[in-house]
Amino acid sequence: MAEQKPREKWGTRIGIIMAVAGSAVGLGNFLRFPVQATQNGGGAFMIPYFISFLLLGIPLMWIEWAIGRYGGLFGHGTAPFIFDKLWKNRALKYLGVIGIFGPLVIFIYYIYIESWLLGYAFFSVTGKLLAFTTPQAMKGFLLAYQGLGPGSNLWTAYLFFLITFAVNSWILYRGIKGGIEWLCKWAMPLLFGFALIIAARVLSLGAPNPLVPDWNIINGLGFLWNPDFSVLTNSKVWLAAAGQIFFTLSVGIGCILTYASYLSHGDDVVLSGLSAGATNEFAEVILGGSIVIPAAFAFLGPIGAAEAAQSGAFNLGFVTMPLIFGRIPLGELFALLWFALLFLAGITSSVSLAEPAVAFVRDEFKLDRKKAVVLFSIAAFLLCQPAIFFLGHGVVDELDFWGGTFALVLFATIETILFVWIFGMDKAWEEMHRGAELNIPRFYRFIMKYITPAFLLFILGFWFIQQGWPTLLMKSVAAENLPYILATRVGLILLFVAIAILVRIAYYRRKPE
Ligand code: ALA
Repeated sequence: MAEQKPREKWGTRIGIIMAVAGSAVGLGNFLRFPVQATQNGGGAFMIPYFISFLLLGIPLMWIEWAIGRYGGLFGHGTAPFIFDKLWKNRALKYLGVIGIFGPLVIFIYYIYIESWLLGYAFFSVTGKLLAFTTPQAMKGFLLAYQGLGPGSNLWTAYLFFLITFAVNSWILYRGIKGGIEWLCKWAMPLLFGFALIIAARVLSLGAPNPLVPDWNIINGLGFLWNPDFSVLTNSKVWLAAAGQIFFTLSVGIGCILTYASYLSHGDDVVLSGLSAGATNEFAEVILGGSIVIPAAFAFLGPIGAAEAAQSGAFNLGFVTMPLIFGRIPLGELFALLWFALLFLAGITSSVSLAEPAVAFVRDEFKLDRKKAVVLFSIAAFLLCQPAIFFLGHGVVDELDFWGGTFALVLFATIETILFVWIFGMDKAWEEMHRGAELNIPRFYRFIMKYITPAFLLFILGFWFIQQGWPTLLMKSVAAENLPYILATRVGLILLFVAIAILVRIAYYRRKPE
């Protein structure tokens, strides 16, 4: 048997914090958050949002960092095998499959959307993008780019997809320290720099249309932040806030677990986890809250901004923002910065979504990283194709639902109960504090033991009633899309089973050791 190389490690403390923050800061911060806040009570949304951050986000960050680091001690970086170290139970490793399956499913559509950003950055430079001056024309361009509308040309998008995929694979191929850490160390400061420039430009817009002085940036901020407290009795608002916290912090996915497995056992997780979470919140609330909605308000007024927010995060990012940039001096430059910012936010997240699958092959089949990445890339490339070619049939929405909504909450519930209740609160507390440079306030013992699991079970139940059941029954699927959605579901089940079989093979192969 070949000599086993030691497991990879992060190079620096700031490197892992940047990598986890990079995983967290993504399209969710700049597009999803402002839309969610506008649609769910403005400033009042921040109440359930921060409660979810304190009761779910922060505890889950600490739990995932601690579980991951614990698994790394035994040479494991993925949930099936880490869970098995926390509790010997025959079925548990199959529940852990969610921690490889979920991020892989998100990866296969996330990377395609990420590639649009590269394409749009390119068209910002060539001037083609800002030549469209009406919402209809801009929307038409987006649809054609996606291969959906008249004059569509999917091959341009495909070319940018190939480039984006190759760059992701190359970063993964270079490894934890030389690839992911290296990427995040330069991409994160650059991304923050671009976001600050764009936010400063938006906040200095004043009232761009002199005919309507009320359409100004102060009122735009008010449009986003003025609280409507009446929404707080609506459970949908609470679900939206909790969902945003999951998505934005990348908790419940499985990737933080894998990242933390490359720590040394004495490395701090408490302060590092908190720092990564706080970095994400700054990017989301301060920067994300200062760009799309205030800009849309200043140019489109209250009705236009509400319509833009209603039309969803993609339209705001890919249609409204380029239209706005087309109306300001140096618009091409700002459009380039905008799409480059989103592309960097995307790529630092997509590599983290890929890493659990890579780590699984590498750790459990004892392959070297380069071989593991080649195998991963071939499989992931094939899996991406339906998302690209059947986008118009709802395949991406379906993948997002199972990978990006359902799997997160389920996985978070399992890992929390496992760590806090079965592994045990005392041991969990001790594990989190090993090497800690900050003591977690003692009341968090109570929160983690009772409030976080109860909150998670509540969300799971409510979510199932409100969205899960109707979606399962395909209530809102158009008849012509039914075969595609069914095929996607069969494909997802097969993927889950395939990973479970690989987990089983790996598990029983190494058991005698
Ligand atoms: N956390 C990542 C985002 O916000 C997935 O986009």
